[in-house]
Amino acid sequence: MKKTADITVDYLGLKLCSPIVPSASPLSQEIEALVEMENCGAGAVVLRSLFEDPWEPSLPTPAAYFEEIARAKQHVKIPIIASLSATSESGWRTLAGQIADAGADALELNIYHPRLSRYVPSSLAEQTYIDTVKAVTHAVRIPVSVKLPPFFTNLAFLVRELRLAGASGIVLFNRFYQPDLDLLAMAPSYTLRLSTSAENRLPLRSLPLLYQQSEMDLAASTGIRSGADILKMILSGASITQVCAILLQRGIPWLKTLEQELRHWMDTCNISSLKKARGILSRRMMEDPGQIEREEYRKALQGYAQIDIPSWRDEVPLHIDSELKN
Ligand SMILES: Cc1cc2nc3c(=O)[nH]c(=O)nc-3n(C[C@H](O)[C@H](O)[C@H](O)COP(=O)(O)O)c2cc1C
Repeated sequence: MKKTADITVDYLGLKLCSPIVPSASPLSQEIEALVEMENCGAGAVVLRSLFEDPWEPSLPTPAAYFEEIARAKQHVKIPIIASLSATSESGWRTLAGQIADAGADALELNIYHPRLSRYVPSSLAEQTYIDTVKAVTHAVRIPVSVKLPPFFTNLAFLVRELRLAGASGIVLFNRFYQPDLDLLAMAPSYTLRLSTSAENRLPLRSLPLLYQQSEMDLAASTGIRSGADILKMILSGASITQVCAILLQRGIPWLKTLEQELRHWMDTCNISSLKKARGILSRRMMEDPGQIEREEYRKALQGYAQIDIPSWRDEVPLHIDSELKN
């Protein structure tokens, strides 16, 4: 692999040798896997989350999790970012403090508030994020990032509030597992569907806005599956990219392929340094968001009209047979 371009990046005050970071998942729970990730070029690793209320036995207890952090720090040199999902204020504070004491280099908050009710204003859900960040940043000295879901009314305002509350970085975005409906069982079905590249339009859309309007470090997550995806995120304002589904499908050594592809695209686009390239395509997006949005919509409509969509008469019959067999 040609290694002339500089792919080092800064994230949460840490110096990373690469912007490619395996995101929180069971993949990072074994020490051997962490060593392999480091050997395959990962810039850092986010550990799976510690849940204050674990709902199943395979999830780690706090003691086991602190032990995982300590062992990770003994065996790999790349930064170890822990991930916490608590449910109470004391849980956030206490567990965050213990995670920092165990030696994590940074902490990612996996905040989940499924408070959907007609009696709960959306401002209260947002305030919960802000209060959580305040509680955690008062309890620890390590940098704290927040992994956000994609659907807030005004992301830029929320991110500014999170910064004032003490957060150093934002992960765009968490991906929740919406159930499907199994018509034969007449019940919800919870089969896990991994992301596709199409989903990375979500972070790609929000990065320029946040890059221009906040001083946060930004991590792109969801649907990042190729070196081209990684470069697009960085040009839009991301400091790092987190990858999960692609590693679950292809295995940890695929990190090397991602780096090769990234270097190929940097070469093709005449980019010699990722730090210098960060956000260079974000400004145009901010000139007139309204106009750009209208333009995007116009292009989307044109693009849609150009797709060769068979008329309903030519359509392939529905796969009822194969669905019944499954
Ligand atoms: C099996 C599995 C387990 C995951 N566990 C966690 C977790 O513990 N904490 C967390 O913040 N995200 C978790 N995630 C979400 C991923 O970190 C990531 O944000 C999401 O899969 C989107 O990235 P991707 O499109 O590259 O898969 C998990 C995802 C998968 C598929």
